[in-house]
Amino acid sequence: MTTFAMFFSQVQKAMGATERIQEILDTPLEPIQAAPKAAIDGAVLRAEQIDFSYDPKRPILQNISFEAKPNTVIAFAGPSGGGKSTIFALLERFYEPTSGRLLIGEQPIADIDLQNWRAQIGYVSQDSAVFAGTIRENLQYGLGRTLSEEELWQGLALAYADQFVQEFPEKLETQIGERGVKLSGGQKQRIAIARAFLRDPKLLMLDEATASLDSQSEEKVQRALDHLMEGRTTLVIAHRLSTIVDADQIYFIEKGTITGQGTHAELISNHPLYAAYVNEQMIN
Ligand SMILES: Nc1ncnc2c1ncn2[C@@H]1O[C@H](COP(=O)(O)OP(=O)(O)OP(=O)(O)O)[C@@H](O)[C@H]1O
Ligand SMILES: [Mg+2]
Repeated sequence: MTTFAMFFSQVQKAMGATERIQEILDTPLEPIQAAPKAAIDGAVLRAEQIDFSYDPKRPILQNISFEAKPNTVIAFAGPSGGGKSTIFALLERFYEPTSGRLLIGEQPIADIDLQNWRAQIGYVSQDSAVFAGTIRENLQYGLGRTLSEEELWQGLALAYADQFVQEFPEKLETQIGERGVKLSGGQKQRIAIARAFLRDPKLLMLDEATASLDSQSEEKVQRALDHLMEGRTTLVIAHRLSTIVDADQIYFIEKGTITGQGTHAELISNHPLYAAYVNEQMIN
């Protein structure tokens, strides 16, 4: 083909494309279906026979079913590597179950607008609670709107964190994390709890700290958490005895399956492995 012919054929193609674009523009638009928002209020969160694996050759979760009624606390406990955090990752929708369904009320959570879903769930991991930045940035993180001074201090107060933040000369502008002031474990946890209060999630997911704090700090963290859990549905990965004793329902998970379900008293009497696990592994 000559250069000219090539050019000409390209022009023709381009013209064809223009016509097609015109056709598309002339076609009335189908209304785009927006993904629905989650209706969490008053709805039961349910997992129905969930299977999941990160790698197809190695199943992780098998036949996991549970339910969390509104304003109750359900706890997951069990040996390390059993799949507890993986369940949280599925609920946060970082992964999709291989089979089975996660439902909020009658709505599959997979159908819900992702941003809307994530905005309504609060995740507090107490082991890695803060990131490098100011206290203000830590509190503001992921919120999508600017919090007023009053709101920020109120969140801190609810988490029993206002006093120690007041004592820093730079207050909310204090740098924390790697190069900033060194916060104690309990102070970090309370910043994370303040952040959760400010997000005001309907559904709270708590991955409890695996190490205990000094008793004074522990008491403040515990009180802040009790308060945070009020009026919300809470799923907690429990490492503390007091948490599972108070939970409405406990699911004991071993090697990716639920081997026991009930209250603490029920499981202590009918599940020897649970009883042994609690005696050996729980922080008192
Ligand atoms: N991102 C990942 N990719 C591949 N495998 C993973 C991933 N995360 C976890 N696993 C594997 O899945 C299994 C379950 O891990 P998971 O973190 O859910 O356990 P866990 O019950 O939370 O344990 P722990 O009590 O120690 O926190 C483990 O065998 C782990 O190695
Ligand atoms: Mg875990």
